[in-house]
Amino acid sequence: MIQQNISLKKFNTFGVDVYAKQFSTFQSVEELQEILQNLKPQTSNLKPQTSNLKPHTSNLKSQTYILGGGSNILFTKNIDGTVLKNEITGIEKINEDAEYVFIRAGAGENWHVFVEYCLNNNYAGVENLALIPGNVGASPMQNIGAYGVEIKDVFESLEAFDMEKNELKTFHKADCGFGYRESVFKNKYKGRFIITSVTFRLLKKPVFNTSYGAIEEELEKMNAGITIQNIAQAVINIRTSKLPDPKVIGNAGSFFKNPEISNELHQNLKNKFPGIIGYDLSNGNVKLAAGWLIEQCGWKGYRKGDAGCHSKQALVLVNYGNASGNDIIEMSTRIIESVDKRFGLLLEREVNVIPPHHPSPI
Ligand code: FAD
Ligand code: EPU
Repeated sequence: MIQQNISLKKFNTFGVDVYAKQFSTFQSVEELQEILQNLKPQTSNLKPQTSNLKPHTSNLKSQTYILGGGSNILFTKNIDGTVLKNEITGIEKINEDAEYVFIRAGAGENWHVFVEYCLNNNYAGVENLALIPGNVGASPMQNIGAYGVEIKDVFESLEAFDMEKNELKTFHKADCGFGYRESVFKNKYKGRFIITSVTFRLLKKPVFNTSYGAIEEELEKMNAGITIQNIAQAVINIRTSKLPDPKVIGNAGSFFKNPEISNELHQNLKNKFPGIIGYDLSNGNVKLAAGWLIEQCGWKGYRKGDAGCHSKQALVLVNYGNASGNDIIEMSTRIIESVDKRFGLLLEREVNVIPPHHPSPI
């Protein structure tokens, strides 16, 4: 079941060519348990704590790395351990009441396939999240978001395999510590839990969310009424007009987070840079468009070798073919430095760099 020395190029949307010492897929929790039991202890000199994806046992006998669709990771070296690709599929309605339907999806289901299932059944809530690459299992890990909606808005619970205790655990929303592209699975419990299924709470009667970005404008252009299907199509049109398709150009979406700053700092920056783009948050802070900051520093469309900054969306770093993870990291460091120099703001990387890049953040 476990393969040796496997190229991960086709398993990460950046298209970086690194190798995994061991590789396996799993289609069920039972298969996952069997693989974990059979994993040979590694004798490598890779220090497990230097990796983003931690070992599967607390005694660190072997290193285990969980992979979904590979659309939010950047590998910077070969993986001296075992990569396990989650392929648990299945989508089923498990409950409903007057207002909601509760849908459970396997962690290995493609996210957009799940969104299409909801659209086909008129279950509302995920239409603004159409076409986000990757799998269901990583969606709570990242608290994925787009066009005014985050997964926390439709999240009910998830099941995850605890590699420390060797058992399945259920997490409800309050247990997950959701934040902007954050959850407990990304920090406090990093590397400990393998998410096996996620249950979503979807509306039978839709509440439309069209105020964000260019959705309304796009609906008008489409000459289409407001339905969840049309909103999803509008989102798809906007996304495909500016985000590079990983099948054509390697990338992992936004490479950095949009920085959150105080209203006071925003006012100061606005005085100096009137064009700065910021969105008011409910906590009184302002979220800045990092793409604009990066563009102002002259990076948009920049290319060095096969590493580049996308010509239509400066927040997205790209691999035109044979860039290494380190080429992309190097460019990201130069971008962080120039944004810091010009605006006094430190951008944070959003993509999971494996192993994590140090020193951080610059
Ligand atoms: P992977 O890249 O495989 O893994 C990401 C992290 O999650 C890794 O640390 C991995 O170990 C961990 N992980 C994966 N599966 C599991 C599991 N089952 N259990 C435990 N840990 C797990 N994101 C957004 O939020 N909004 C967007 O609009 C958006 N647009 C994008 C556009 C493009 C073109 C691309 C390429 C990416 C975009 N992304 C966006 C980022 C990406 O799609 C999401 O982060 C997605 O959720 C990643 O899913 P994945 O299955 O590919 O995760
Ligand atoms: N902008 C520029 N120059 C650029 C890029 C953007 O001026 O090169 C400006 C745009 O004109 C716009 C503003 O910045 O006024 C925001 O741009 P956009 O709507 O494209 O969104 P974003 O803030 O760059 C975020 C998410 C995306 C998500 C979109 C839509 C983050 C880090 N990124 O991008 O998520 O799809 O909003 O909601 O929060 C991802 O996480 O990988 C991702 C793609």
